[in-house]
Amino acid sequence: MKKGKSRVMLDRVESLMQSYISELSNEYVSSLFEKLPHGKRLRAKLVLKIAGSSKEALRLAAVIEMIHAASLLHDDVIDDAATRRGVASLNATEGSKQAVMMGDILYSKGFEELVGFEREIAAKVASAVTQLSIGEMMDVELSKSFNTDSGLYMQMIYQKTAALIEATAATAAMLAGKESGVYAIYGRNLGIAFQIVDDILDITQTSEQLGKPAMHDFEEGKSTLPYIYLYEALDEEGKERLKSLHAKRLTDDEKEWIKGAMEERGALRKAYLHAKELADEAVSLMESAGESSLADIVTAMIERDF
Ligand code: FPP
Ligand code: MG
Repeated sequence: MKKGKSRVMLDRVESLMQSYISELSNEYVSSLFEKLPHGKRLRAKLVLKIAGSSKEALRLAAVIEMIHAASLLHDDVIDDAATRRGVASLNATEGSKQAVMMGDILYSKGFEELVGFEREIAAKVASAVTQLSIGEMMDVELSKSFNTDSGLYMQMIYQKTAALIEATAATAAMLAGKESGVYAIYGRNLGIAFQIVDDILDITQTSEQLGKPAMHDFEEGKSTLPYIYLYEALDEEGKERLKSLHAKRLTDDEKEWIKGAMEERGALRKAYLHAKELADEAVSLMESAGESSLADIVTAMIERDF
């Protein structure tokens, strides 16, 4: 079957990343890069859809995907994750030290390429990486006790996840000479909605579907939006029970109680509707801008089940 144009372009982004890595002339680094799961390449798709397939667009897509891959390597060390996308994480197979260093290599090589872009683009991506690091730090901090503040959660996911997607869309627009403000809002909404959906799927999906243990967020101490909404809806006794389960290894019965209570109290639905509102705003912005395929990305993201 003939490959579609967007698949061919994404393959070119993959090759570009590979060639950046092979420039480093280190076989071990290249072999670790080969092992990394590719993921959805959402950020590369956004760049290509917004900025087309010029050399610069392909480079920007590759740089942003390398930075994103670096952040996941670091995140898996921080979260002590044994798997990523259904395969053993790099920290599990090579140890945390090598996973951190591989993240550093991807991140700094990405920056080496980033400085070749015009200043405004380079500064925006660099500042987003600072944001995501602060967001990750806030995530760790909030996990130390049971966070019931939805405002803090929203701030954290904006920084941890949406800031880089916002910068991706905005810088791709700058490359293409488009109005970057509209694309920035689109990216921000897409990013926040994406993380809310991710946090919902942690609860509603099985470990097989997720490629990582299900309902692990709460065990790790992360009280994501459905947990916050559930807490708000529970009576005093329920609140105490939920609090007592925070950051603990959950039994199957405890997981069932949480899920059942979330269904009953509409906590999952409320979280989903929040994501849907942001997604709808992003869709209508793109429809008005005549960017139907960018609107489709949001729709597919909000409807995804993995
Ligand atoms: C996934 O969160 C993690 C992120 C979206 C960003 C993590 C960012 C850092 C570790 C900072 C990186 C810094 C540099 C310099 C590259 P999650 O744990 O909620 O999602 P998961 O289920 O996919 O693990
Ligand atoms: Mg993680």
